Amino acid sequence: MAEVEPRSHDVLIIGAGGAGLRAAIAASEAGASVGLVCKSLLGKAHTVMAEGGIAAALAHVAERDSWQVHFRDTMVGGKLLNDPRMAEIHAREAPQRVRELERWGAVFDRTRDGRILQRPFGGHTHPRLAHVGDRTGLEMIRTLQDRAVATGIAVYQECTITHLTTTDGRVSGAIGYWRADGRPAAFQAKAVVLATGGIGRIYEVTSNSWEYSGDGHALAYLAGAELIDMEFVQFHPTGMVWPPGVRGLLVTEAVRGEGGILRNRLGERFMWKYLPDARRHEYAETDDEAMRWVEALTEGRQTDARQPPELSTRDNVSRAIYTEVKEGRGSPHGGVFLDISYLPPDRVRRKLPSMYDQFTELADVDITRVPMEVGPTQHYMMGGVRVQAETGATTRPGLYAAGEVAGGMHGANRLGGNSLSDLLVFGQRAGVAAARAAGALRAMPALSASQVDDALAELEEPLVRGAGDDPYRIHQELKATMQSLVGIYRTENDLDAALASIAELRRRSEGVRVDGPRAFNPGWDLVFELRNMLIVAEAVTLSARMRTESRGAHSRLDHVLSDPAWEHLNVVICPDGLAMRVEGTPAVALTDDQRTLVNKG
Ligand code: FUM
Repeated sequence: MAEVEPRSHDVLIIGAGGAGLRAAIAASEAGASVGLVCKSLLGKAHTVMAEGGIAAALAHVAERDSWQVHFRDTMVGGKLLNDPRMAEIHAREAPQRVRELERWGAVFDRTRDGRILQRPFGGHTHPRLAHVGDRTGLEMIRTLQDRAVATGIAVYQECTITHLTTTDGRVSGAIGYWRADGRPAAFQAKAVVLATGGIGRIYEVTSNSWEYSGDGHALAYLAGAELIDMEFVQFHPTGMVWPPGVRGLLVTEAVRGEGGILRNRLGERFMWKYLPDARRHEYAETDDEAMRWVEALTEGRQTDARQPPELSTRDNVSRAIYTEVKEGRGSPHGGVFLDISYLPPDRVRRKLPSMYDQFTELADVDITRVPMEVGPTQHYMMGGVRVQAETGATTRPGLYAAGEVAGGMHGANRLGGNSLSDLLVFGQRAGVAAARAAGALRAMPALSASQVDDALAELEEPLVRGAGDDPYRIHQELKATMQSLVGIYRTENDLDAALASIAELRRRSEGVRVDGPRAFNPGWDLVFELRNMLIVAEAVTLSARMRTESRGAHSRLDHVLSDPAWEHLNVVICPDGLAMRVEGTPAVALTDDQRTLVNKG
């Protein structure tokens, strides 16, 4: 304890992406002193990678849009497993969060008469995504960051948090280290908000950046909080498949939203075969009708033509591409073709500037002339820390969560664009709630000296151990396990094999050793990320094993149908001594009004 002088804040926020920044602004404006800690540099959070847009029923392009339709789309997309209270709050509040961003300086693309332009995305009944070309996340982070810094928050960059502390059962702070020199870091807080994003690094092929090692999921779990819906891992249908160094990099759904067509090696527009029967009526019946829809979009007109089959929900499109490739109809590098080259080149470059640059620079492919090659990539985690809808409070006092690290909002499958609106809506709410909770505490909870000492000893161990396994090797093996056994399609045998492999990897990870100094030591960084990733991998696999049905993003080859017995159950994970407990618990029921909205479609 003598080694480290804690910094104190009413509210400590871990993670500086969209959710963390929005929570910081809200907490600071509510009068709390706020510390924002991130393991990366400010402005470099994964949110900057978000491309296609923010879903909000502004009704700027489709006058018929409303929060009610957005709510319904979100629930139907999530196969009704979403927490309906979260889905309703989200649909109601997303428009005001977008308008607020605009007031704070975000420059969205415009309609001809100057309103915010909204583009279509899969599963959204109307064009709904406010966007900035295909660089929406960048504009959003720039705007939130300016605003957050202006409110006077303290920012701690390149600081990895490895432990949460508790005082009398309440989360009261965090321990970690400064990446630049390896010195220990300690924080005391009256409330802590987790905003650490997703878990993509447990997979080999992911669109996620290096920060996404499930840190918040694991920190919450280790602090005794519950995780929910961890079996629902989203595979985005279109990531780059070539060259190998950029495999998995996101190819935004905006390409399909702007008219991109998916074809297999034989030139077939294969998505016609995979439309879900129950929603078939929402899609165009012929190429001509799909083309009328694209033309109307191009001219900024509303139309009654129905949307192209490529805009089916992500779970469905990912499975379709996987199947085409598996059955031998894939492209040369193991994907399928995504073609936007039939549109005027100027339009493609204007609407999709990042995609144009990405393919030109990384793959030497001019997307205005030839199709892209694309395939599924792990993209998002629907599951996360179980929270109260209104406040983001977790099941541990003093601990809040918002954004991708929180579960419940998206159910079994997230609609594109709903993550940016989610992190704005629930980041703001968690910030307000954390500030309120902090205001209600008279004194700053004391940090427990023994918890600090234990955490620091754990940090030290891999550096001083005489011999041990290599964390990189364990990470490679974990990714290979998850990719091959807990991917788009699952079976009980595979999941059992994955659990055995994860248990063995965990055993080995407890004795890892790293060489070199503490300063900027990526091997040392990996040790604690690996601990987190192993917890998340086990939670995903156990949850996937328990849900003996297929629903949304969770597809079981040995239980191919949805089972009514699972329709109203969430899978919940929590620590039970040294073991991980998994159980099905009743999902939050729809109110009568919500049920009426859902049934309207
Ligand atoms: O495809 C995309 O641009 C991704 C958007 C999202 O995941 O919300």
